[in-house]
Amino acid sequence: MNKNEIINKTVEFVKNKLEGDSSGHDWWHIYRVWNMSKKLHKKEGGDLFIIELAALLHDVADWKFYKNESEGLKIISDWLVQLKLSNGITDKIIHVIKNVSFKGAGVKDKMDTIEGKIVQDADRLDAIGAIGIARTFAFGGKFGNEMHNPEKNAELHNSFEEYKNSKGTTINHFYEKLLLLKSRMNTKIAKDIAQDRHHFMEVFLKQFYDEWENLK
Ligand code: ADP
Ligand code: NI
Repeated sequence: MNKNEIINKTVEFVKNKLEGDSSGHDWWHIYRVWNMSKKLHKKEGGDLFIIELAALLHDVADWKFYKNESEGLKIISDWLVQLKLSNGITDKIIHVIKNVSFKGAGVKDKMDTIEGKIVQDADRLDAIGAIGIARTFAFGGKFGNEMHNPEKNAELHNSFEEYKNSKGTTINHFYEKLLLLKSRMNTKIAKDIAQDRHHFMEVFLKQFYDEWENLK
């Protein structure tokens, strides 16, 4: 199989797994992250084949859908083995996917390859701005979280365990993650794109609170 065929087959595999998901991790999230990764690659370089496969597969192993991380990662490595990719390429893709996720406000990111930095930025750009807002409310509804409760404060989680188990409100998730992403982008181009999307979220929150208090 040539590289194009491998990408096309992987698109079908991922569509099959994630199509119709209602938590903000559906195929169209993957599609946007894949496209954004290609755009970032044009400016930042890196190995495009690894970037594309990691972008396409990054949420197949998501901890929110499996009992543990290794169960999800096994599904991805089985897929890559079936495609007869070398161990070197497979390891690089798994490395990106393992480190891509945000794990709490107080938990440091440790992405160390350009391929990983690009996919992480593309994933994070899709978590902010208008689409980020929509995904966050979709996620909160799906997982049974309150939309907003002025009596509850945001918590800046210092471990992945705390972050993972939190049942905070969706509005508090903006402070626990979304508004922090602008300054955690890796690449210059993603930092620039993040500016506008960040500003849009600030405008949204101001309007939300004004309506809440009948000020508008
Ligand atoms: P990452 O892409 O860093 O792995 P996740 O997959 O955890 O991020 O989350 C993807 C999106 O799901 C987030 O950007 C956010 O919109 C939403 N999300 C995750 N956790 C929550 C939460 N506790 N409340 C509301 N939305 C959430
Ligand atoms: Ni994602």
